[in-house]
Amino acid sequence: MSVPTTRPASTHEPGKLWGGRFARPSATALEDLSRSPADNFRMVRYDAIGSKAHAGELVRAGILTESERTTIESALDDIVARHEAGDLRQTSSDEDVHGYLERLLVAELGDLGGKLRAGRSRNDQTANELRLYLRDASAQLAVEVVALIEALIRRAEETGAVPAPGFTHLQPAQPITFGHQLLAHAAALSRDVERLRHAWRSSALSPLGGAALAGNPLSRDPLEAAREQGFEGLSVNSIDGVSSRDHVADFLFAAAMTATDVSRLAEELCLWASAQFGWIGLDDAWSTGSSIMPQKKNPDVAELARGKGARLIANLTGMLSVLKGLPFAYNRDLGEDKHFAFDSADTLDLVLPAMTGMVETLTVRAETMAAQATAGFTLATELADWLAEQGVPFSEAHDVAGRAVQYCEHHGLVLEQLTLDDAIAIDERLTQSALERLSVQSALARRSGPGGTAPANVAAQVERIRRSVAESLNGFVRLEPTA
Ligand code: ARG
Repeated sequence: MSVPTTRPASTHEPGKLWGGRFARPSATALEDLSRSPADNFRMVRYDAIGSKAHAGELVRAGILTESERTTIESALDDIVARHEAGDLRQTSSDEDVHGYLERLLVAELGDLGGKLRAGRSRNDQTANELRLYLRDASAQLAVEVVALIEALIRRAEETGAVPAPGFTHLQPAQPITFGHQLLAHAAALSRDVERLRHAWRSSALSPLGGAALAGNPLSRDPLEAAREQGFEGLSVNSIDGVSSRDHVADFLFAAAMTATDVSRLAEELCLWASAQFGWIGLDDAWSTGSSIMPQKKNPDVAELARGKGARLIANLTGMLSVLKGLPFAYNRDLGEDKHFAFDSADTLDLVLPAMTGMVETLTVRAETMAAQATAGFTLATELADWLAEQGVPFSEAHDVAGRAVQYCEHHGLVLEQLTLDDAIAIDERLTQSALERLSVQSALARRSGPGGTAPANVAAQVERIRRSVAESLNGFVRLEPTA
């Protein structure tokens, strides 16, 4: 067994922020495991934002001069620009984005570049920059969800009077309009915009100054540092600040719920595009072919969107699995946070514009849809409602209408074809006025209460959805920071 010997701290590779207490180099397998995945280096811009704010703290602590701060800031800006232009790349000696930036800063500025590390830890750095990233990602995704909502609204305004069969249990239920079905999806998605706004607020407090776990003794005005980065305040507790990730889970839930809502729309688009439904046609630019069956035109956008939903749900459960049972301070397990956050953000960023394009360009086969609106006796409830209005208990009215359906099935009729003689044979209380109820237009128009499918309701629903979306979007405003 060799006796540890001292060695100068500078013998470890630049890009690795520790090593002085180690006598022997790290094992390669450890370095391979410990090195941040390549896509973590997208955090360069956010690390630079936090680093500039931290430089301000070091000026206030008397460790840097104002002019040194300015020098560091412009070097950081330059590094970010060159990194994002692809002119700089991390090497295998860069353990993570923090080591990478310090290596570049030292290469640029010499000893001054090494001064920036005072008082901070990668623990508060990484916690800080992921919050900055999540704020940008949730705002960006909210805008993309709104684009899909707007596409649905435009199509709903065109089809707000086009009758279609409405389903429960995927069985014909009652007539609705196609526009009403589209607005149902828009309403659900409007809540996802609000969820993304909530996720944005969850990342509103800066943990910078928490350092490794106990706080930064050099910190003089951390609220000012938080304000410079666009945060609304400071974490309450340094341990919580560096080691909580519930804001990541909030983001992942908002993203997973959005993907789930998108997936339900996707599933319906697949059904509607089938030959059996025949309700919609897909634009060539937004559908795919088969390598063997020349006739195929497939709704791949919708299928892919539905499939990606599984990943977003997995990312949420993955993050929760990391957190559950972790001692409440920094642990390396927490580094998985970025994998889940990036994957959910990147995946939705692919899905949302494609779904918007598909919805914007599909053709609606109004006649096919309208011809199916009464298939499966979807007007039966109208008959029961008419009887109830005449004072017949609904339990009995339901039975009479059920017998009318049976009568039609027996005679090969649909409800709208019943004559007055047929009606009286079913139940003597039925009159011509009951038969007049057996029309799609009447069924639609009667459902004019708030949220009902009456064509006259489209404008009010659109108004409410747009108002809710606008309120959520207005919520993405930076407030004046308070401790
Ligand atoms: N940037 C890395 C991450 O977020 C490392 C952060 C802290 N690392 C550490 N050894 N304390 O996963």
